[in-house]
Amino acid sequence: MGSEELEFVANLDNAMETKDINVWFGERQVLANVNLEFQTNTVTALIGPSGCGKSTFIRTLNRMHELIPSAKLAGRVMLDDEDIYAAHVDPVDIRLKVGMVFQKPNPFPSMSIGDNVLAGLKLAKRKVEDADFILEDSLRKAGLWDEVKDRLKTSAGSLSGGQQQRLCIARSLVLKPQVLLMDEPCSALDPGSTRRIEETIKELRESVTIVIVTHNMQQALRVSDYTAFFLSEEGHPGHVVEYGLTNDIFHEPKDQRTDDYVHGRFG
Ligand SMILES: Nc1ncnc2c1ncn2[C@@H]1O[C@H](COP(=O)(O)OP(=O)(O)O)[C@@H](O)[C@H]1O
Ligand SMILES: [Mg+2]
Repeated sequence: MGSEELEFVANLDNAMETKDINVWFGERQVLANVNLEFQTNTVTALIGPSGCGKSTFIRTLNRMHELIPSAKLAGRVMLDDEDIYAAHVDPVDIRLKVGMVFQKPNPFPSMSIGDNVLAGLKLAKRKVEDADFILEDSLRKAGLWDEVKDRLKTSAGSLSGGQQQRLCIARSLVLKPQVLLMDEPCSALDPGSTRRIEETIKELRESVTIVIVTHNMQQALRVSDYTAFFLSEEGHPGHVVEYGLTNDIFHEPKDQRTDDYVHGRFG
């Protein structure tokens, strides 16, 4: 990264920042020295070939990583100038501030659409003053309100895959997270539903910082402001090869490996 660019990045407001993240499963190191900054109210795409550690990395950002037996971690993840791994920090609290949406939509299928959205609040033992307002607000932000407003009491299992994914986004949003992590949220969806989620992501950026793993280069170009390219190479655990404005990563990459990857020459 050039000094000019460094300055540009440093002047922006960071919602979250990682410092020398290293990860092991048992003895095997899968991530080395990942330093990234996620600017407030932007979308950052994490790209790279399968197995390079994108999912592992994103799980370190809300302390889901430590739920995996054998997983080890070194480094810091700063949120509001505080390390989320500091001794006094409650991981449950972090997972409320840093929400996560997975590849496969995972609503509670027999629970109603409305109850699904509010489920997070109950789990978080948060007092609900105006459930109806929160419900509508979250579903609107997730771009699902118009499609479900007349059937909030129907079971979530009756929704299409794309609608279920937007329901999961709404369920995260009720907790008013500062950061929303998305691990390949569209990879199980058809192109129409994918478009709909992408529109939602663009609108959400105004209120939440988003980090999204995607295998779809066009999607990274369409939705993200910044892109980080991860790679694990012979003898080297997953690491960030290049990070910067999405436009630069795709159109003027500095590293040949980035150029090759974004043009589909490998991975
Ligand atoms: N629970 C786990 N236990 C052991 N190894 C794992 C586990 N999860 C992932 N790995 C390994 O860590 C590396 C990175 O995986 P992952 O983060 O899933 O990559 P990506 O999401 O980029 O495809 C892979 O080599 C994978 O096999
Ligand atoms: Mg993955």
